[in-house]
Amino acid sequence: MRYAETGYNLEIDLTTGNVERVETDPKDTEFLLGGVGTSSKIMWDRVGPEVKPFDPENLLIFSSGLLCGTSCPGANRTMITSVSPQTDFVAYSMMGGFFSPEMKYAGYDKIIFRGKSPKLVYIWIKDDKVEIRDASHLSGKGSVETQELIRQELKEPRAHVAAIGLAGENRVFFASIEQGRSSASRLGLGAVMGDKGIKAIAIRGTKDLNVARPAELIEINNWQMEYMWWRQENPIPKMMPIMAILGSPQEMLECDEKWHTENFSWGNSRVRRKNFWTPEIEEAWTRQQLSARKRLISCYNCPIKCGALISVPGVAAYMMKCFTKLTYAMGAFVDDLEWGLQTAGKAIEYGVDGFSCPQVVAYAFELKEAGILTEEDFAGTDAYPPCPEDNAGRFLWMLDRIVRREGIGNIFADGTYWAGKTIGKGAEKYAHNNIRKHEQAPLKLGAVNPIYYLMYCTNEKLNITQIEGQWPQMPYSKPEDREAYVKDWFQVPDDRFKEWFKLWEMKGEHALPYFPGIPEIFEIVDWMERMHLIDDMCGVCTGISAFHLKPPYHIHNYPKIISAATGMDISEEELIKITKRDRQLIRANNVRRGWRQIDDMPPEDHWAKRLPEYEKQLLEGYQAYKGWDTEGIPTKESLESLDLGFVAEDFEKRGIF
Ligand code: MTE
Ligand code: MTE
Ligand code: SF4
Repeated sequence: MRYAETGYNLEIDLTTGNVERVETDPKDTEFLLGGVGTSSKIMWDRVGPEVKPFDPENLLIFSSGLLCGTSCPGANRTMITSVSPQTDFVAYSMMGGFFSPEMKYAGYDKIIFRGKSPKLVYIWIKDDKVEIRDASHLSGKGSVETQELIRQELKEPRAHVAAIGLAGENRVFFASIEQGRSSASRLGLGAVMGDKGIKAIAIRGTKDLNVARPAELIEINNWQMEYMWWRQENPIPKMMPIMAILGSPQEMLECDEKWHTENFSWGNSRVRRKNFWTPEIEEAWTRQQLSARKRLISCYNCPIKCGALISVPGVAAYMMKCFTKLTYAMGAFVDDLEWGLQTAGKAIEYGVDGFSCPQVVAYAFELKEAGILTEEDFAGTDAYPPCPEDNAGRFLWMLDRIVRREGIGNIFADGTYWAGKTIGKGAEKYAHNNIRKHEQAPLKLGAVNPIYYLMYCTNEKLNITQIEGQWPQMPYSKPEDREAYVKDWFQVPDDRFKEWFKLWEMKGEHALPYFPGIPEIFEIVDWMERMHLIDDMCGVCTGISAFHLKPPYHIHNYPKIISAATGMDISEEELIKITKRDRQLIRANNVRRGWRQIDDMPPEDHWAKRLPEYEKQLLEGYQAYKGWDTEGIPTKESLESLDLGFVAEDFEKRGIF
């Protein structure tokens, strides 16, 4: 019997309409657990580097994680994997909510799409019954609206539906996939879904899922739940509020936005507004947030409630969480949170990524102001009016043009990198916040921080939030606070980490950028990344795990949890080996697609003060530490030591070594 997983994938060929339930090999689970791990292997085996994002051979994989659907709290992530139209690399975008557990209860660990449907369809999965249904009546409908329409049509109020909006149908390179309170947002996997002709996937499962040693598992889960309640009532002292308690950044709870609005950048990640958070703004934004927020909501089997139901005049109610609360107001330079929430609601219906989209729109107006684009580019046609002058009006105008791929919007629908290339005339330079061809979080900082430098450089999942966590961003200035912090820090790999933290100061010789020292920094970054990889293989939300500072999942209890759930007895060392293997395979997929040292670089102006020699030392040293050469390519020895000899052979054949 298979435990924690179902042992079956659902394979759907959209070109032929063929549907198959395929038994998987338990050895794959031992090798890479599940989620992003096993999806990376499928991409390796079946999607060669010659496959382009919109080729029928590109796969679109919806994967549950190994622990999804079990009693493990927060084990609800769906990891979506495909070749991204934005980066041309393999992308891993995630959504929480309820989809993944439902997939397991329907009897599948993954749903794998290949080919392209000749017409717009939606997929209806109820346990063993799988239908490919006509979706022409849903064409052009919003992503949230579609979810409800499908539930009504199926008379299945309990079905969970992942859908795309107009942006996905029109293959906007930063189109998202939306589902309930969640979203697989980044790197345009909604465009791949649209290209395959899938408007939505509805799923309802009623089967059981077995776990190997339920009593043992529940005992650990009970401890985790108790710990979570305790942590919420006992925030980490003197820590910034969104990191002091558990949850994906608690933006729905938190109203004080001084830190984000003054330290993150506005427009196309261009301007920092140092004195933005005045008492008047604080009063207005707090009032607007509290009035818009109808109730706080959770994902499947999680007590944390870091999302919210938002209702603002002019747009249908929708779910929101985290930093997208601010990105629209900040991207458009509109000092009105309610407008930001209205625009976010509209954008979510269209189905676009809340990080890229505002920067792309702001970029378009930068090009206009720089004279690279002219008034003519923003003129109206019979189909649509000319672009308004005011910040709010022009933003909405451009958003509409982009998702419809109308006029100049057609160029910006490809994101800042590709739009810059198409426009030329120096437009490329204005796409300044990119990392591997897509827009990074809108941050401009002071002196380079070596820990973040390495994370930005080497993170394959491309989102900084998909690797950071565990280690605080800043030290405490007082030794007694540091001493107090490490007292109950049982999540650290070993006590040396506590010693480094105790010595870490704001200023002087024990401060960044040279303290902690280089070897310690490598261990810290590697630990952070390792925890994210485990979450993404197991489908556990990082909001109660890797992203957090003192979470209920950690390197010492994860092996016990996985063992009790699956029956595979895994030690800490073995789990670490699996994460290393997962990491190399993720990188190998992209190395084969051309990822090199040049791609291991943050946006040029991310930090005002750079330290080129030190950065070189950090990057080259870390590459060696990870078992890569100076081009970022995994070495033969490292691959073979992780049982990835087949990757080494492939690299040899292709002349990559
Ligand atoms: N969990 C996993 N395993 N991997 C991730 O990348 N991202 C986190 C969190 N949980 C993430 C994750 C972040 S930063 C956010 S804001 C939320 O998921 C996004 O929630 P959603 O995917 O449900 O929309
Ligand atoms: N875009 C949409 N449409 N909705 C969202 O909730 N969340 C943002 C960003 N873009 C968000 C969004 C946040 S907070 C994060 S961390 C990333 O998407 C998560 O990226 P992923 O869903 O690709 O993992
Ligand atoms: Fe969902 Fe937040 Fe819980 Fe994560 S911490 S599972 S995002 S409610």
